[in-house]
Order: sequence, then structure tokens, then C-alpha cells
Amino acid sequence: MTATLIDGKAFAAKIHAQVTAHVARLKADHGLTPGLAVVLVGEDPASQVYVRNKGWQTVEAGMNSFEYKRPADTPEAELLALIERLNADPAVHGILVQLPLPGHIDADLVINAIDPAKDVDGFHISNVGLLATGQKAMVPCTPLGCLMMLRDLHGDLSGREAVVVGRSNIVGKPMAQLLLRDSCTVTLAHSRTRDLAAVCRRADILVAAVGRPEMIPGDWIKPGATVIDVGINRIDAPERGAGKSRLVGDVHFASAAEVAGAITPVPGGVGPMTIACLLANTLTACSRANG
Ligand code: GUN
Repeated sequence: MTATLIDGKAFAAKIHAQVTAHVARLKADHGLTPGLAVVLVGEDPASQVYVRNKGWQTVEAGMNSFEYKRPADTPEAELLALIERLNADPAVHGILVQLPLPGHIDADLVINAIDPAKDVDGFHISNVGLLATGQKAMVPCTPLGCLMMLRDLHGDLSGREAVVVGRSNIVGKPMAQLLLRDSCTVTLAHSRTRDLAAVCRRADILVAAVGRPEMIPGDWIKPGATVIDVGINRIDAPERGAGKSRLVGDVHFASAAEVAGAITPVPGGVGPMTIACLLANTLTACSRANG
């Protein structure tokens, strides 16, 4: 392996420590404790793991964590009523509705019912618009974490060729906006892009967020490029024993690490940064709400 490994876990721990120190100061100086409400509908196992991790890390940072677990058949109106209550609750500074939601619930309707000032996911249409027009917005946590790692590694990103593979509202689109805001030349590619290999080979910065295990091989990567792998895919690993599995990214790590200049591992790359940025967004929401 020739690439430098980008240690998202260590970076996330640094942000966590900064947030924790700031929360302690808010408490001591102003008697304020930031509060994050997380809403989980249904029993999706991956979502349950995320929500559990968000909960204990919030508490560890000195913030209040409020969890609302509801059954999969919860009516949409009931969820909207809960959002209304949380919007009005002064102890709640951030609201996160875990996605995906069950099929009978209109996710856009629910997300847009959240007070934009409490929308720590940055998914509300107002925050999306603010980001797209270069105004002060709540920024989605995963792309924000990616941007922080890129800035830490390179400093100024201006003029670099950035290719984002994946056009989701959660990662791909806001990632492209953030890189554009930092003056990169941005291509937003996806699974239907013609000659995706050639597009990827142009990238000084390649962000992979397509959700397809090991789809991007080393020979799609420009020598020396920085590769940020957002994918978290569980695949069978019979070599580890019957019924075993392992986590892989959207990039084929072993071949990519021979070509790239720097690369995030999976796990331990982007993943830990997402929750760290969620805590930072909650702190920001609390500070803004209290002048
Ligand atoms: N599901 C997968 N990622 C996310 C995220 O960043 N926020 C929410 N609310 N749900 C998700």
C-alpha cells in the first residue's frame, strides 16, 4: 500500500473533545445544555445501531439525548404531531428523524415539518436552499465530515477537480455543493454516468457514495488522488468462516490504496465523522437559539 491512510476515527475523536469542552463552557457560563432528539420509526437493524451510537455519544459530550422509538405502523399524522411537540420544546435544540422511514410515511413531509433551526441533519428544504445559494445553513453531517477531512489534508481546495459518485440527498448532492463552495471544479456522477471510469480518472478528489460494494477499482483512480469512501456495505465473508460477513466501502480498498495519494478506510474513515459532525451541528443549533 502506498496511500496515506486518513484516520477518521482519530479526527472524529478530536472534534468530539472540542464539542465536549464547548458544551461544558455553555453549561458553566450560561446554564445551557444542548439537547438532541432522535426519532426512530420501525426496527431496521442498521438504523437501531446508528441511533444507539448517536445516543451514547451525545451523552458522552455532555448533551441531553432524547430518544423516541415508535413502531413501524405509526401513522404519519402521529409522527408529524411528535415533530410539532419537539419544535416547540425549548430543551430540544436538534431534531433528527432516522431515515429510511417506513413506506407509508412521506419522508419529505416529515423532514420539512422540522423547524429548520433544529434541523441538525440539514435535510430541510430551507437548509438545502441556503447551502445551494451559499448562505449560512445547517449542513448534512456526512458530507460536512468529508469536507473537514479534505480541508485538514489539503488546506485550500480551490481549483481542484472533484468527482462525487452518487446523487443522494443525504450525501452526493450536498457534497457537490460543499466542494463547489470551496471552489473545486465539481462533477456529480452516478451509476448511470457514461464511462464512469474515465470520469473518475479525472478526479484529484474522488468521493464515492453510491452504495455498491467495491464498485470503484484502483485503475479508475488518478495516481496521487485523494479518495473519500462514504460507502458502508456488508458483504459475505466465507473466508472468515460460515455465515460471517465484513464491511467494505464503495471503493475496492486494496487496489485503490496502491494508486491513491490518500484514502479513507472502511470502517474507521468517514463513518465516525458523521456522528462527530452531528454533535457539532447540535451545539451550533443550541448556540444560535440562545443568541
Ligand atoms: N440514514 C442514513 N444516514 C442518515 C443520516 O445522516 N441522517 C438520518 N436522519 N438518517 C440517515
